[in-house]
Amino acid sequence: MVMDNQSSSSPPVPRRHFLNLLTASSLTVGGVICIWPFLESLKTQNTIVTHSYTDVDISSLKEGQQITVMWQGHAIFILHRSAKTLALLKDQELLIRLRDPDSKELQQPPYTKNWHRSIQPEIAVLIGVCTHLGCVPTLKLNNSLGGHYNCACHGSKFDLAGRVYNNMPAPYNLPVPPYKILKPGILRIGENPNGENFDFKSLTQI
Ligand code: FES
Repeated sequence: MVMDNQSSSSPPVPRRHFLNLLTASSLTVGGVICIWPFLESLKTQNTIVTHSYTDVDISSLKEGQQITVMWQGHAIFILHRSAKTLALLKDQELLIRLRDPDSKELQQPPYTKNWHRSIQPEIAVLIGVCTHLGCVPTLKLNNSLGGHYNCACHGSKFDLAGRVYNNMPAPYNLPVPPYKILKPGILRIGENPNGENFDFKSLTQI
């Protein structure tokens, strides 16, 4: 079980230290989110060899809450965005400050190439790795649930859909992994929705 509220002001964590941090966090936080990638992958190893997946229970994830899980060595942010947060994502004053507001770069599967960069508007699923040099950005939310991701390594800033601001060291939006809604409240990270065949390796930059 892994749960990581990223709203603190602690500095970003280099990727090479992140797994250790998550392990330590899981011992102290416990609780809400169940992950069973290992058992599931054992059950399916005869049919799925290179596309391992992680199932995540988000049924108790509240607005403004974020959890972080690991999938194929990557930190995956899952953020429950409020209606106010979603409205801010469409604000023209924000959009003109973003490098790729329409997600033209291949940094997400085609089924998340939309204004919220996700399948369900309220649930963001992002690879939490800065596209500059790979630090782990930190979630910064304000009281009205606006906010951004900040990478303090060299100051890159991303909105709450993972879109990078202009003139930042990071050249691309945060990647979106392949995922699908397995059933209400359960996400499967690492598998496309039925009928989709997006190849994770085709992302421009992870
Ligand atoms: S690694 Fe994020 S700004 Fe450099």
